[in-house]
Amino acid sequence: MIFDIVAVNSDHQKYFYHQYILAVTVFCISLSLPILMGHKKLIRFQAIDTYKNVLQYPENMKGNWKNFFGNDNPITLELACGKGEYSVNLGRQHKDHNYIGVDIKGNRIYTGAKAALEEGLDNVGFLRIHIGQITEYFEPGEVAGIWIIFPDPFLKKAKNRLTHPRFLHLYQQLLKTGATINLKTDSKELYDFTLETIAEQNCNKLEDIADIYGKGLATGPLAIQTFYEKKHLADGRTIYYLRFSLPANPIILSGRFEPKSDT
Ligand SMILES: C[S@@+](CC[C@H](N)C(=O)[O-])C[C@H]1O[C@@H](n2cnc3c(N)ncnc32)[C@H](O)[C@@H]1O
Repeated sequence: MIFDIVAVNSDHQKYFYHQYILAVTVFCISLSLPILMGHKKLIRFQAIDTYKNVLQYPENMKGNWKNFFGNDNPITLELACGKGEYSVNLGRQHKDHNYIGVDIKGNRIYTGAKAALEEGLDNVGFLRIHIGQITEYFEPGEVAGIWIIFPDPFLKKAKNRLTHPRFLHLYQQLLKTGATINLKTDSKELYDFTLETIAEQNCNKLEDIADIYGKGLATGPLAIQTFYEKKHLADGRTIYYLRFSLPANPIILSGRFEPKSDT
């Protein structure tokens, strides 16, 4: 019908005609964008279903990762891996080490899993689970280290932070004695909270850098930049890093970080 518009001869008529076409185009795009995005997610979910390097809520993996990788090399986890930049980059650099990116979001895991497959990185895998269930997937001592990279800081719900004692207690059930946990974050609140937790739980603090770029210390593994890190750097945010190991004694779940005391 719009094409039946009377002859658009005058400048005035042309202006309104173009405005009309523009409005219709914007309206159509805004309607189809969510559909296109949903479609993209669907394609990614279908793809990871077929990827041999992605396991989604698998059964019987506890104690069986050596079969998955075909070797007994040490295993490091990248928790909250998103697109898995740490797993892929560390996997490239250390072929004698295995890396598993862990995240709940399959469409993000897709990016890292695809890159690892295309490069033939057999030492990189991805596990789609809720990190709160991690002890169902690894047996005691099966994990040699953990990277926690720009996790959501959960400013209102401390119990969901991946460095909350509730999570440290889980990690303690998988990690080899003396294994290190690395946290990289742009959240001062999460950094401070983790420092307090480390002190309260008698963890062994090994490295504490309040501004890795300001101090010129973004080298080695700290030079790897993830999707979120690039965004935070573009916004001029400070990046914090902590490395620590857990105490020999069990993590204490009662006390001021007890989940029940959260608001
Ligand atoms: C802010 S993004 C960071 C992603 C990536 N590390 C990066 O730096 O680009 C946080 C990620 O943590 C994941 N995540 C948060 N809590 C989780 C949980 N309990 N279990 C699994 N994944 C979780 C989210 O799905 C999301 O991909």
